[in-house]
Amino acid sequence: MTLSRRCLLLGLLAGGPGFVCRAAGQSDPGADSTVARAARGRSLFEGKGLCFSCHGKNGEGLLGPSTRLASRPSGHTRPSVADVAALIKSGVDSAHSISGQLMPARGGSRLNDAEVEAVATYVLELEKGRKPE
Ligand code: HEC
Repeated sequence: MTLSRRCLLLGLLAGGPGFVCRAAGQSDPGADSTVARAARGRSLFEGKGLCFSCHGKNGEGLLGPSTRLASRPSGHTRPSVADVAALIKSGVDSAHSISGQLMPARGGSRLNDAEVEAVATYVLELEKGRKPE
């Protein structure tokens, strides 16, 4: 996981997804698809997923600090894409809300499971301060 994240970051910096991973002798076939998923997740976040309407196009948080997703302090991000995907699917109900504001399941959108997975991949990068371009 750490390795493929590094590949993702370096791939993005190099402007050629997968190039660095292959150059470094990695044969991780997941690396290319992680880059592709994060890019797809970004357009879903800013579009069909409706996430931008509460979290802001850049994750800056339009409904107050608890809706800020960009560059969360370490320890304030969920550990894995699967954990973020689970949160997106369930939303945030009144029992779990920090601010008292709620998040509808899937943000109230019609994202399917594969799309939720892609958005989660993007959100985790965003939270870690590595917004993919
Ligand atoms: C109607 C507004 C709304 C929409 C749309 C929305 N959210 Fe949220 N989201 C919230 C609120 C409010 C919170 C924080 C609740 C709290 O104060 O604890 C939140 C919290 C989160 C968190 C952090 C929760 C945690 O505990 O880690 C993530 C990640 C998140 N949303 C992702 C998304 C994604 C991805 C989408 C789009 C699929 C989305 N949200 C759409 C309102 C929204």
